[in-house]
Amino acid sequence: MPEPMIITIDGPAGAGKSTVAKEISRRFGYFHLDSGALYRAIGYACSLKGADLNNLQEVISVAKSIKIELTEEGKVILNGRDVTWEIRKPEGGYLASQVARFKEIREVVVELLREMAKGKKIVIDGRDAGSYIFPEADLKIYLTATPEERAKRRYEELKKRGFNVSYEEVLKEVVERDERDRNRPFAPLVVPEGAIVIDTTGKSLETVISEISQLIKNGNDC
Ligand code: CDP
Ligand code: CDP
Repeated sequence: MPEPMIITIDGPAGAGKSTVAKEISRRFGYFHLDSGALYRAIGYACSLKGADLNNLQEVISVAKSIKIELTEEGKVILNGRDVTWEIRKPEGGYLASQVARFKEIREVVVELLREMAKGKKIVIDGRDAGSYIFPEADLKIYLTATPEERAKRRYEELKKRGFNVSYEEVLKEVVERDERDRNRPFAPLVVPEGAIVIDTTGKSLETVISEISQLIKNGNDC
């Protein structure tokens, strides 16, 4: 089977999607589309502009007034400024999932993502990459792990970057966000049809990456 042109990686927070997507892109020469970064950038821009996150019109007007770019090196540029790390702060996930509830915002983001993907071999990670954005993808992966393990990974990562948060706080944030992502009416977090589910609980990053590498090399039918 030929090498897949579009690979989607979906799953809940902390499952390892972006780390895995980045590494797969590097090893196989794909462009990495981090769809969550777009929701994070919009949520962040809303907070900078003091927009009310429950007011669709205010959120739309911010989303339509900004320019977001994703670079080959994995940087997120908002109106010409590098915000890659700022949007990863703990409240960034909350802001992102608030703006991501709105169908109108999702349509803006999906259009942008499809535009960014044109003519490229891509690995895209998110919540609805295989179910809604690219249902025609050649290889669909769904990564998951127990909430406790995902929260532990996130907690370790935040601690390493110098954020002062407790494990309990992180677990609560992850569980609440998953709940919001799974229960929104439009393009919720689901296992996409035809996706290969990988439970990463207790698995090393390298094991997960090599399982996916094998699927790419074997053309997904192993
Ligand atoms: O994108 P997503 O929220 O799914 O996860 P991430 O931002 O890639 O973060 C996952 C964290 O868990 C990273 O620090 C990884 O190094 C670590 N990790 C993993 O992704 N997969 C494993 N099997 C083990 C650890
Ligand atoms: O890295 P992590 O998995 O924690 O989050 P992310 O991928 O950066 O996404 C942040 C938030 O954006 C998610 O909790 C979702 O609410 C939203 N999102 C979405 O709705 N659809 C996507 N395709 C990607 C992210």
